[in-house]
Amino acid sequence: MEKLSTFIIDSDNNSRELIRNYSSEIDFIEITDCFNNIEDAYSTIVREQPHIVIVDLNDVSGKVFNYIEKVINTQNKTKFIVTALSYDTDSIIKAMRAGAREFLPKPIIKDDFEKTINKLKEQFYGTEKTTNCKIITLFSNKGGIGKTSIATNLALELANITKEKVALVDMNFQLGDVATFLDIKPSFDISYVVQNIDGTDDSFLLSTLDRYKDTNLYVLADPPYMEQAKDITPEQISKLFDALRKTFSYVIVDTSNVFYGKTITVLDNTDFIMLVTIVNIPAIRNCQRCLDIFERLGYDKDKTKIVVNRYMENDEVKAEDLEEALNKKVYWKIPNNYFTIMSSINKGLPVSLINENSNIAQSYRELATVLSDNIYKQKVAKRIQRNPLIDYKKLIE
Ligand SMILES: Nc1ncnc2c1ncn2[C@@H]1O[C@H](COP(=O)(O)OP(=O)(O)OP(=O)(O)O)[C@@H](O)[C@H]1O
Ligand SMILES: [Mg+2]
Repeated sequence: MEKLSTFIIDSDNNSRELIRNYSSEIDFIEITDCFNNIEDAYSTIVREQPHIVIVDLNDVSGKVFNYIEKVINTQNKTKFIVTALSYDTDSIIKAMRAGAREFLPKPIIKDDFEKTINKLKEQFYGTEKTTNCKIITLFSNKGGIGKTSIATNLALELANITKEKVALVDMNFQLGDVATFLDIKPSFDISYVVQNIDGTDDSFLLSTLDRYKDTNLYVLADPPYMEQAKDITPEQISKLFDALRKTFSYVIVDTSNVFYGKTITVLDNTDFIMLVTIVNIPAIRNCQRCLDIFERLGYDKDKTKIVVNRYMENDEVKAEDLEEALNKKVYWKIPNNYFTIMSSINKGLPVSLINENSNIAQSYRELATVLSDNIYKQKVAKRIQRNPLIDYKKLIE
């Protein structure tokens, strides 16, 4: 097995020595180069494409985020681990958004170091079993509320912002709209994928899902014939989710508005349900019903996030009324902008390509930012929590 070549970028000699020591006990990595700052290291990283770069966030050049991003944009082999002694969660999130994959708080503890390196090894050799993938499903028990518009635009924004692989999956099973919204003619559909998923490796999904233009978004459409959808079983759906989790960092699912076996399987497999609603009295009642059902299904309260679509400040019923009726905070509000969304749907283009400065394009983009930031924060909090040498509570307040 080829050893994982690793660069250390840290101006502190002791830190470099510590990492060298830890590494000498791991047989599958080798430290191939050391630098004081990322600016000096940049051209060598681009030329040699090491597997791993361990870089200190307090890099003396002060340009660490820009350089991580530059490397990630030119080649996607190298994986970055960022380390830091004094830091705030915002700068770690910035590094993650630039493309860093892991974070190790200093002083680095051996066990943490080994776990992180092992995780990267599994990513390089394709044997990763546990992933950090988040499955986010757009749901509503009412039709025509905006699920597909949010799913497509959110998925694309997540792919652009996080630079990670994102899957958009149409689980309407019948009469899905995702392919139409993006104006694509997929070569394979969900029915083909679930029949062929057994025993396949990660590259199977990457080659069968349709990559959207040059982005990191991969689309899986519903089957063209209703009979094919009927034959898909809940077991196959769960298996598909297992495979998606191994290949993608985010999976955005568009659903139908009918509560039946397949929808429940989808919701069971979901990390976050975005319950989409508008603010009027019947919609609020429907939302209440949904929340009741989710409670009976045993879902944690935090699993469901309320997303108000077509929001207008001067509506008779306010978002606050909705919050009071549901006893739950509204997670996000998407403004009403019929003109832009209709133009986007009719042209088969995401709203950011119709008018990136429109209020609705901004809202989808900010939703993607908030969601991914929260997910990064949870990841960072977990890592810091495991380090007994750090008072993590202070850092995540
Ligand atoms: N933010 C918005 N502002 C104005 N109109 C919107 C907005 N979002 C969606 N719409 C309108 O709502 C319609 C339905 O949207 P969409 O198809 O995304 O809903 P859906 O919940 O997926 O519907 P279905 O139940 O048919 O799958 C769109 O055709 C568009 O006209
Ligand atoms: Mg739809």
